Amino acid sequence: MTSVPAPTRDIYRPRIHYTPAKNWMNDPNGLVFHRGVYHLFYQHNPYGPEWGNMSWGHATSTDLLTWTEQPVAIQCDDDEAIFSGSAVVDTHNTSGLGNGTTPPMVAVYTSAYTETSQRNGTQAQSLAYSLDEGQTWSKYAGNPVLDRKSANFRDPKVFWYDGPAGAYWVMVAVEATEHRVVVYNSPDLLSWEHLSDFTADGPAESVWECPDLFELPIDEDPTRTAWVLIVSVTPGGVAGGSGTRYFIGDFDGVNFTETPATQETVDGAAGLRGSWLDWGRDNYAAVSFSGLADRRIMIGWMSNWQYAGSTPTGTWRSAMTLPREISLATVGGRTRLIQAPIAPTPTLVTHPTDAPGTVLPAGQTSIATLPSGEALRVQVNTMQPAGGVFGLRFRTGDGELTSLIVDAATRELRLDRTASSVAVHDLFPSIERAPLDLIDGRVELEVYVDACSIEVFAQGGLATITDLIFPHGGQTEIEFFADADVAVDQLELAVLS
Ligand code: FRU
Repeated sequence: MTSVPAPTRDIYRPRIHYTPAKNWMNDPNGLVFHRGVYHLFYQHNPYGPEWGNMSWGHATSTDLLTWTEQPVAIQCDDDEAIFSGSAVVDTHNTSGLGNGTTPPMVAVYTSAYTETSQRNGTQAQSLAYSLDEGQTWSKYAGNPVLDRKSANFRDPKVFWYDGPAGAYWVMVAVEATEHRVVVYNSPDLLSWEHLSDFTADGPAESVWECPDLFELPIDEDPTRTAWVLIVSVTPGGVAGGSGTRYFIGDFDGVNFTETPATQETVDGAAGLRGSWLDWGRDNYAAVSFSGLADRRIMIGWMSNWQYAGSTPTGTWRSAMTLPREISLATVGGRTRLIQAPIAPTPTLVTHPTDAPGTVLPAGQTSIATLPSGEALRVQVNTMQPAGGVFGLRFRTGDGELTSLIVDAATRELRLDRTASSVAVHDLFPSIERAPLDLIDGRVELEVYVDACSIEVFAQGGLATITDLIFPHGGQTEIEFFADADVAVDQLELAVLS
C-alpha cells in the first residue's frame, strides 16, 4: 500500500491576519486590553474544522500584529456550548469574584443549553472569571446571571457606563429572531435589570447578532460625541448573507436613539437602507476592545455564514479581519464612521510610477509580481477621472483575477471576485458595491492583499470592502487598468511580511 502524502502547502494561511493553528473559528469574543496585552478570544471548535463544540479559543498580542495562540479559555461541557460574548476587567471588584489583590477578568458569554440541560433549547447569559490574566477560567457558580427563557437571547457586550444617568455596567445583547437589541444594567455583573430595547427595519428571515455600543468623539473634538450601535445581521447583509450594520445616535444611559439622517442612501442587496460597517461579504460579528482608554479598535470574523463551512483551507478554518481603529468624522454634513487598519510596517516599499501625475495609459499595465507568499499593501491616489472606469486587478494569472473597479459614472467602488477562486460554494462568486464619496475630487484606495483575502479601505477608510478569495495558486500578477488615460499621483506597493 502506498500512503497518500499530506498536503505540504498551506497556501491560504494568512501572513498578517490571525487564524488558529488548527480547527474552526468564528466570531471574535471578549476582546480586552489589560496590562499591555491584547486578548482575542473567539468562537472555536477545539476538536475539528467545522462549527460545533463551541468554546472560547484565546490568542494574545502586545501590538495587535503578531498573535500567540493560548490554550482554550472556556470549554463547552455536556450542558452548554459557550457562545459569543465579551470580557471586562472588573477593576473595583464589583462582582466580588476577585481575590482581594487581583481584579478579576470577567467573561460574559451566552450559555447555549444542550439536551442534557434542564434549560435545553434556551440561551441565557453567564459569567466566567480569570484571576491569572486570562490563562485559566472558572465558571461562576450562580450561572446563568440573566435568563429570559428565550431560545435566541445571546451575544452580550458589556461596558462600564459613567454618565449623566449614573455609573454602572451596561449590557447590550440580542433577541436574535425578533431583530431586537436589549439593553440591561447592573451594579455588579451578577444581577441585571432591563432598561430598553432598540429595533429597526430588516428582512424578516434575518437574525440580529453580536451587538456593540460605544461613544466616540466627532472630528476628534472630545466635547462633541456620538454613540455607535453595531449590529450584525444574517442573512440580509448588504452584499448577501452575513453583514454588519451600524447606527449613529445617542445613549442616555437607558435608551439608544438613532440620530435621523445618518443613514447611507444606498440600497443593499436585500433592498435595505442602512449604514454598513463593511460593503463586502466577509466581515461579520465585528466588535470592539474593552480596556482601551482613548482608542476604539474593532476586529471582525472574515467569513460569511452562507459558505463559512465550505472554505478550502483544510485543517483550520477562518481568519479575523485586520484590527481597525474606528473614529467619527463629519463628511458631507453627516457623521460617518472611519476605519483605519492596523498592519505591520512594510519591509519593502516600491513606487511603480515615477512621479506625481504619471499617466498610466488606457488599457492594462502590469505593475508588480507579488512576491510569492507575501502580504501586500497597495495604495493608489489620483484625481477622479471625468468618466469611465479604472482600477486594479489582484492575484491574476491562468485566467483568474480579482478586480477592484472605480466607476466615475456611478460613483461606485466594486470588488469583483467572480473569477477569483477555486470552487468554494454556489453563493461564493460575487461583485460587491460600495458608495464612493469623492473627497476634494480625489480617489484614495488602500488595499491589503493576503493569502486568502482582500481588504479595501477607500477614501481614507470611509468605506471598506472585505472579501475572501481562494486563487488556485501561482496567481501573482497585479495590474492597473483603465478605459482612458489616468494621471496617478501615487502608486505604492509595500511588502508586509
Ligand atoms: C454569530 C453567532 C452568534 C453566536 C455564535 C455561535 O456568528 O451566530 O450569534 O453566539 O455565532 O457560534
